Amino acid sequence: MAEKSNGNVLPGAGRLVLVSDDEPSLRELLSHVLEEEGYSVVSAASGQEALETFRKYSDEIVLIIQDLKLPDLDGARLLARYTTEAPGIPVVVITAFSTSNNAVEAMRLGAYDYIKKPFEVDAIRQVVNRAVGKHDESRGSVKSAEEAPQRKYDLIGNHHSIQEVMDLVNRVASTDSTVLIQGESGTGKELVARALHDRSQRQDEPFISVNCSAFTETLLESELFGHKKGAFTGSVADTDGFFMAADGGTLFLDEVADMSLTTQVKILRVIEERIVTPVGSTCAEPVNVRIVAATNKKIREEIEDGSFREDLYYRLNVIPVELPPLRDRKEDIPLLAGYFIRKHSERMGKELTGISESAIEKLRGYEWPGNVRELDNIIQRHVALCKGKEIESVQLRDHVPASPAEGSAAPRGFGIPEQGMDLEEHLDDVETGFLREALSATGGNMTEAARLLGMSYRSMRYRVQKLRVRDTEIVV
Ligand SMILES: Nc1ncnc2c1ncn2[C@@H]1O[C@H](COP(=O)(O)OP(=O)(O)OP(=O)(O)O)[C@@H](O)[C@H]1O
Ligand SMILES: [Mg+2]
Repeated sequence: MAEKSNGNVLPGAGRLVLVSDDEPSLRELLSHVLEEEGYSVVSAASGQEALETFRKYSDEIVLIIQDLKLPDLDGARLLARYTTEAPGIPVVVITAFSTSNNAVEAMRLGAYDYIKKPFEVDAIRQVVNRAVGKHDESRGSVKSAEEAPQRKYDLIGNHHSIQEVMDLVNRVASTDSTVLIQGESGTGKELVARALHDRSQRQDEPFISVNCSAFTETLLESELFGHKKGAFTGSVADTDGFFMAADGGTLFLDEVADMSLTTQVKILRVIEERIVTPVGSTCAEPVNVRIVAATNKKIREEIEDGSFREDLYYRLNVIPVELPPLRDRKEDIPLLAGYFIRKHSERMGKELTGISESAIEKLRGYEWPGNVRELDNIIQRHVALCKGKEIESVQLRDHVPASPAEGSAAPRGFGIPEQGMDLEEHLDDVETGFLREALSATGGNMTEAARLLGMSYRSMRYRVQKLRVRDTEIVV
């Protein structure tokens, strides 16, 4: 029988997610993240258990998160069962870092998306919410073909800079032109890439997102172009890469400036000739993908210092999209805050109506180094903690200016005592202080306290154990 996550969440209590992985710690982590997002979780430790649980709750399940490597069943066969028995439920597969060709295969077999181990909590949240959004759409009331894609990934903003981006997206989505999206972290680059795909004729074909900075050079090449059996140790079969997996659809090359110069040459060739040569092969295969690339680096500077090829830049930058940092469009903060309040309170089953004027003022006064993502996270945290109808006040993290004023190279004074100090001990004290405060503010609830401190449940638990903050009762 499927264990219920933490033993305290029952199916029927909210929108249900089936988590299936044979690693208990991973199930626990996923369950916590999902519960924080307002879902209920049923989990299974084996393929057989997953299938039984799936059949039992298939009417309620809105998403399946499935490890592909199972001790008892073939992951691909299980995926096929899900997609034939309940085709509307999106499946997100979990794959190990080194075997991501499984991910390609899984996307082929109908998985909606994949998460690679080891993963970041933020990445899980994004994938999950996207996938459930997809499920809602497929079940939602009948929408006209024109309006449905408009709703998928809302790019919110009235500021002229973001309006221009939206216009551009609408104009170029239907072309096959390569797009280069530039902008700081959290400004919405991936959102724009998805919007381009969803508004194109390729919308029913795969959208494959590859984070180029997450791989070593050799691995990235075999991921992108595929490899032949025996091309390197451990390559036991011919395997397609992401280019082939995205055939007919869109390939999103995220963090494109982090590719090595050698890989850049190879990408250039694919773009120019529309052919892919798998690692270890001499035979090129034709491929039809629309390429959207993104970077949060200043790519002009990368070209100047020789780490990015100018010819590739021109190939990618056919349509340039510049996403403004949030601090340059602070007029949009109330609109975005309202949007995130609605989004999160709906998801958590709360009935928040808004945010106070003084809280908005505080949000406007902040510089937003993490841009829209940071605003999204902060609002989410406040929605979770809010007891009333309105967010009355907001707590922001202390902000250290990103770039110190020109010429101020001298370190800022923290007041090191003349006799010296034990920094480690001091930092532990500071950490303990914040942990205590957060735990007492949330009545000892570790999940909420972790949210308040902007950390995952897991690192909260780790820190509490490490520092033994035990004088407040902890509710898990
Ligand atoms: N204009 C916007 N309207 C609504 N939500 C937005 C907007 N811009 C960003 N977001 C939200 O902020 C989060 C971060 O966006 P996204 O992942 O697209 O950023 P990014 O530029 O790719 O960041 P990174 O460089 O760190 O990967 C997402 O949850 C996204 O939905
Ligand atoms: Mg991104």
